[in-house]
Amino acid sequence: MKSIKVGLLGIGTVGSGTFNVLKRNQQEIAARAGRGIEITMVADLNTERAKELTNNEVEVVSDANLVVNNPDIDIVIELIGGYGIAKDLVLKAIANGKHVVTANKALIATHGNEIFKAAQEKNVMVAFEAAVAGGIPIIKALREGLTANSIEWIAGIINGTTNFILSEMRDKGLDFDIVLKEAQRLGYAEADPTFDIEGVDAAHKLTIMASIAFGIPVQFDKAHVEGITKLQATDIRYAEQLGYRIKLLGITKRTDAGIELRVHPTLIPASRLIANVEGAMNAVLVRGDAVGETLYYGKGAGAEPTASAVIADLVDITRLATADPEHRVPHLAFQPDAMADTKILPMAEITTSYYLRMHVTDQAGVLADVTRILADSSISIDAMLQKEPADGETQTDIIMLTHKTQEKNVETAIAKIENLATVVGKVTKIRLEELN
Ligand code: HSE
Repeated sequence: MKSIKVGLLGIGTVGSGTFNVLKRNQQEIAARAGRGIEITMVADLNTERAKELTNNEVEVVSDANLVVNNPDIDIVIELIGGYGIAKDLVLKAIANGKHVVTANKALIATHGNEIFKAAQEKNVMVAFEAAVAGGIPIIKALREGLTANSIEWIAGIINGTTNFILSEMRDKGLDFDIVLKEAQRLGYAEADPTFDIEGVDAAHKLTIMASIAFGIPVQFDKAHVEGITKLQATDIRYAEQLGYRIKLLGITKRTDAGIELRVHPTLIPASRLIANVEGAMNAVLVRGDAVGETLYYGKGAGAEPTASAVIADLVDITRLATADPEHRVPHLAFQPDAMADTKILPMAEITTSYYLRMHVTDQAGVLADVTRILADSSISIDAMLQKEPADGETQTDIIMLTHKTQEKNVETAIAKIENLATVVGKVTKIRLEELN
């Protein structure tokens, strides 16, 4: 059978990784796919660099439209990123009857519903394994490997940049700003790291996983997105003394009231495997009702790890291209007419445990006042840490870990605690998950 023809839009880090791995492993990949997979056309604004990266072996153009409109191309790989031009090109490729592979989490998390609908109408596939956790085959695992399960929750370290920063803050006791600069110098963080450090990148990936896990449309706009920019080294240290690590987790959970969809710094017990995922690595913990917990670990970014996911999608599409569309794996795991409209819960209605740090005047009755307020909001205390005031100081920190409660109870209690004359400044609140 003649090889399947692929057009590549954007040949940066992941694009060149894809080109190289496809070439290096072409025999094995063809043996698995049932026919050869060949990149025959590349579009990139920097045509000279593109020619160099592809050893002048493929046609290089600067206008991506020439790829998506080329009748000889069967599959388009979109590695441009963002949701402007990338969205137009993906929709054009679909309209032209081409299958699409993309690593673009922002695009899928925000416009996935429209893209999947268009793909369904044209009987083409849109594959996006590389959009979530880079080289870890988590989409495949959720959509196929765990298909027998009712998924209960997912908790993931799905942004390498922030995990690297948090690891360094803990290891070296340094503040966020200093570590961020170091991460940029080492190339772990982008020159503009906003999407990573503000939790947006993780929320894009979480949104996609939630849809597949729970059979709901992608709804990035309903996700709670909180990054690590306000996290203090002090809290990482106190958490450690209490037996916890702080990670930027993407958490999605099915509850009776609806679905939780949230990204924020989270205390997790230091003894959990996922708490020990360090540096730029990613890990996703999934709990299914039949299988229990499964953990997926690996590189969430980089040329060849991400290429590994892109090529897995190419192979899947190649194998399924001739299959009856009805028998393909649905984009979001559930058949399009069987999607649920389960509500995504506002943060006030989520239930979790909390780490609270308050700076107080060290005098009789302070603790009694605080615990009374917590009791009035039906918040039960799980553990407490009070530091002796430093020499000559009259103020100190009190840290409390709570049992599970609704976020709105905690917000009410914090407002009252902050009003106490003996409490100085704001209360620091970090959510805590036991993950069991
Ligand atoms: N910027 C991402 C990260 C990788 O730091 O994990 C691509 O999504």
